[in-house]
Amino acid sequence: MAQTIAVLDFGSQYTQVIARRIRECQVYSKIYHYSTPAETLRAEGVIGIVLSGGPNSVFSRRAPIPDPGIYELGVPVLGICYGIQLFGFQLGGRVSKSTHREFGHGNLRVMHPGRLFAGLPKKLRVWNSHGDRLIRLPPGFKPIGVTENSEYAAIEDQKRNFYGIQFHPEVFHTERGIDIYRNFIFGVCGARRNWTMRSFIDRAIAAIRIRVGKSRVILGLSGGVDSSVAAALIHRAIGKQLTCVFVDNGLLRQGEREQVETLYKKHFRIDVRVVDASALFLRRLRGVSEPEAKRRIIGQTFIKVFEDSLKHIGHAEFLGQGTLYPDVIESVAIGDNPAALIKTHHNVGGLPARMKLKLLEPLRELFKDEVRLVGAKLGLPREVVWRQPFPGPGLGVRVLGEISRDRLEILRGADTILQEEMMASGWYWKVWQSFCVFLPVKSVGVVGDERNYAWVIGIRVVESIDAMTADWTRLPPDLLQRISSRITNEVRGVSRVVYDVSSKPPATIEWE
Ligand code: XMP
Repeated sequence: MAQTIAVLDFGSQYTQVIARRIRECQVYSKIYHYSTPAETLRAEGVIGIVLSGGPNSVFSRRAPIPDPGIYELGVPVLGICYGIQLFGFQLGGRVSKSTHREFGHGNLRVMHPGRLFAGLPKKLRVWNSHGDRLIRLPPGFKPIGVTENSEYAAIEDQKRNFYGIQFHPEVFHTERGIDIYRNFIFGVCGARRNWTMRSFIDRAIAAIRIRVGKSRVILGLSGGVDSSVAAALIHRAIGKQLTCVFVDNGLLRQGEREQVETLYKKHFRIDVRVVDASALFLRRLRGVSEPEAKRRIIGQTFIKVFEDSLKHIGHAEFLGQGTLYPDVIESVAIGDNPAALIKTHHNVGGLPARMKLKLLEPLRELFKDEVRLVGAKLGLPREVVWRQPFPGPGLGVRVLGEISRDRLEILRGADTILQEEMMASGWYWKVWQSFCVFLPVKSVGVVGDERNYAWVIGIRVVESIDAMTADWTRLPPDLLQRISSRITNEVRGVSRVVYDVSSKPPATIEWE
C-alpha cells in the first residue's frame, strides 16, 4: 500500500489545496472526513496526519472534533489553524474565544527552527485566517514561532512529533509554505517520493485489467480533458474491449467532431462510434428559450441517444467515466465553506440506474492537474490536455434564447475566429475560458454604403482558478480590434461585436 499522508477535513476552504501541495511533493495524500476513526487511518497505512483548518470555533456546540485516538497512533500530526485549537482543546491546553477573525498577512519570527522550519529564514511572511487563539500550551508543547498577534503562532511537541501552526502554509501568500510541508512530510514523517503519474498509470492499468477481465467497457467521450484521459487510460489497459460513444448533438464547435474522429480513431485506434443525433436535438429544442429548459432537454436527449447507441454495440458490463477526486470527496459543509458548493456542474451520475452498468472510474483519485499530467504521459496532444472547459450543453447555452441552425452557424463562425486569434497570440493558454455568445439582438451597421441590420456577438474571456469566481481578462486592445474586425468582416449576419466586462460574481461565466 502507498504511504499516505491523511488530511482530516474540518471544513476549510483550503483542504483540497493542502492535499494537492503534498502530492506536488510526490507523496500520496488523501482527504478524510474529520470523524474518521483512528483505526481506519491505521489500517490504511497513514504515516502522518494534517488537521485542516476550518471555519468553526472549538466552543461551538456543533464543533467538529476528531477521534482522540488519532493522537495515540504514534504518527506525526500537523495542526493548521483550527487544528492548533484542537490541540489546545483535546490535549490539555487552553483556547480563548475570539469575537473577530485575524485575517491577512502576518510576520512570523522563527525562534526554534527544529524540523518544521529547518533550512528556512528566521522571518517569514505568512497568511492568517483564524478566529479563536491558543492561550495556554498543552503539556509537552513549546512555542517555536511568534507573530505580532500571537505568541503561539507555531508550536511543537518534539517527543510525540506534534506540530501546530496558526497560519496557512498551503496558500500562495505564505512565503516558503511548500517548504514547511516538505519539512513535515520528509523531515518529520519520513515519507518517500513515490507518487508520480508514471507509477499511477502502471497501477491503474493493472487495476483496470483485473477488474474488467474479459468484459466490455463503454465510455461516453465528450472531447473534454477528463473523458479523453479516461478513454486513453482504459484503452491502454484493455484495448479493443473499450468502445467509446461520441454523440454529435448539433451543438458542437466548428470541426470538433472531425477532431475527435481523427485523434481517437485514427491516431489512438480506439473503437469510437460517432452518433449523429443533431437533427433530434435541434428538433426537440425548437421553440425553447428558457436556459434551464434547454439544459434539461439536452441532458435527457443525451441519455436517450446514448442508451439507444448501446443496443448496437452489444452487451457491456462497465461504464467508463472520467470522475475526478474533487467529485467524490465528501465535503464537510460547515459554516461558509465554499468548497462544499463547488460541485454544481459536474456531469457525474447523469445516466440512469436502469442501465445496470458497473462504474469504472480510473481517475477517481486524481486532481485535475494530475489528470493533465497523465494525459500528457499517455500521448494526448496539448490541445486536449490543456483544453479550456466547455459546458456539457455546448453551444446550446451560448446561443441565447431560441436555438436554430442559422444562429449556431453564425456563432461557430465567430467562435472559430476568436479561438484562432487567441491561439495565435498565445492568450488561449493564459486564460480560463474564451468564447463567443450569440445575442438574439439586431443592431444597425454599415457595409460599404449600405445599411446592415444584423446580429450581435458577445465575447467572453475570463481568468479563474476554479470557476467559482472569475475576472474578465484585459486583452490587449490590438487583439480585440483584430478579433472584432475579422468577425464583422468574415461572418455574415453579424454587425457588431461587444466585449463582456463582468466579473463572477455577480455575473456567471456562461451567459445562460
Ligand atoms: P458558470 O456559468 O456557472 O460556469 O459561472 C462555471 C463553469 O462551469 C461551466 N458550465 C457548465 N458545465 N454543464 C457543464 O458541464 C453545464 O450546464 C455548465 N454550465 C456552465 C462553465 O463553462 C464554467 O467553466
